[in-house]
Amino acid sequence: MNAFSFYNPVKLIFGKGQLKEVKKEFPKFGKKVLVVYGGGSIKKNGLYDEVMAVLEEAGLEVFELSGVEPNPRISTARKGIEICKNEGIEMLLAVGGGSVIDCTKLIACGATYEGDAWDLVSRKAQPEGALPFGTVLTLAATGSEMNAGSVITNEETQEKYGWGSPYSFPKFSILDPTYTLSVPRDHTVYGIVDMMSHIFEQYFNDATNTPVQDRMCEGVLKAVIETAPKLLEDLQSYEHRETILFAGTMGLNKFLEMGYRGDWATHNIEHAVSAVYDIPHAGGLAILFPQWMRHNVHVNPSRFAQMAVRVFDVDPEGKTNEEVALEGIDRLSAFWTSLGAPTRLADYDIDDSKIEVMAEKAMVYGAFGNFNKLQNEDVKEILQASL
Ligand code: NZQ
Ligand code: ZN
Repeated sequence: MNAFSFYNPVKLIFGKGQLKEVKKEFPKFGKKVLVVYGGGSIKKNGLYDEVMAVLEEAGLEVFELSGVEPNPRISTARKGIEICKNEGIEMLLAVGGGSVIDCTKLIACGATYEGDAWDLVSRKAQPEGALPFGTVLTLAATGSEMNAGSVITNEETQEKYGWGSPYSFPKFSILDPTYTLSVPRDHTVYGIVDMMSHIFEQYFNDATNTPVQDRMCEGVLKAVIETAPKLLEDLQSYEHRETILFAGTMGLNKFLEMGYRGDWATHNIEHAVSAVYDIPHAGGLAILFPQWMRHNVHVNPSRFAQMAVRVFDVDPEGKTNEEVALEGIDRLSAFWTSLGAPTRLADYDIDDSKIEVMAEKAMVYGAFGNFNKLQNEDVKEILQASL
């Protein structure tokens, strides 16, 4: 293991009927709250009305920012920041998936920053404070509800970067599986791919001697692999939604990343792809991750073989580590395909015309990846293999 310190101040409030806890959490921060949400799913499933009722009971003055896009845009965050500054907003409530939460994180930090919020995303400046914010999660995927990360797209320059700061942790997050029952099949699949990818990013890391972390990662992956097909058979299953919701949070609240730095190269490449083509984040991951794995097996075949045996039940008898590893990667691909995830960039009509552009965007901070440092040529090869 590497030396590490761990910090995660998010109060996680999990289970049926927990929305009422907003009434306890919020009034301590003030009276004026900005509710941030997406394109209307919360109006269709009734959550909007429930949230408004709870905020009214808490005696709060409510402002709204709707229309946060999947792959949230800097222009929308700027709108939210303007509302905060003009109206003297004291706290924010994100009601939605990762996109709404990520946008809220930038609004919260941007509201206490004098310059343009893109400075915080592009790392030109560091946040020096934030308005307090809570979240009501409606989609199991990103883990944003219990981490400090946020991913924002600049639609004008076609850039999409992750950023984060000690100020961008939610104060609290409410996770009631009931609110995820309405997530359609495609986004349920994307969420499953995303949370599994987060665990792979951490499993392939820069340390040795991590047997506890390995088993934790493998355990969460196993539970997701067992539950995902059952959930897709019955999208209304509270029980399976509950399992997947909890797995998504555990996948990226950094509990699994103690003692090492995860690789995170595939996420970096995917952000470059969705910056240019605006495709769903996990659609990109489903295509890219198996190719990243194939590209990197040679770095440490036994690591991949361990995953293949323990997570994908590959029989290692009479095979080299490399053969076992490749069989495991094939099983991962087959599993995601069986759920209905995309397999090739062509599924999104992406051809080779912008490989150079995407590789350059991915390389903006130089060579990247903590399991194996990727150079421009590696990125292009992975993209090429994904076509
Ligand atoms: O906008 P609405 O109408 O709410 O619809 C959303 C959206 O169209 C819909 N949805 C959400 N909850 C629903 C629902 N539909 C019906 N019922 C519900 N209960 O689902 C669609 C996708 O929502 P979105 O928030 O975009 O999905 P997700 O949670 O997967 O977030 C994706 C974003 O998170 C970033 C991605 O890059 C992408 O921009 N990521 C953030 C991370 C983080 N902060 O830690 C890490 C991730 O790796 C990821 O990069
Ligand atoms: Zn992700």
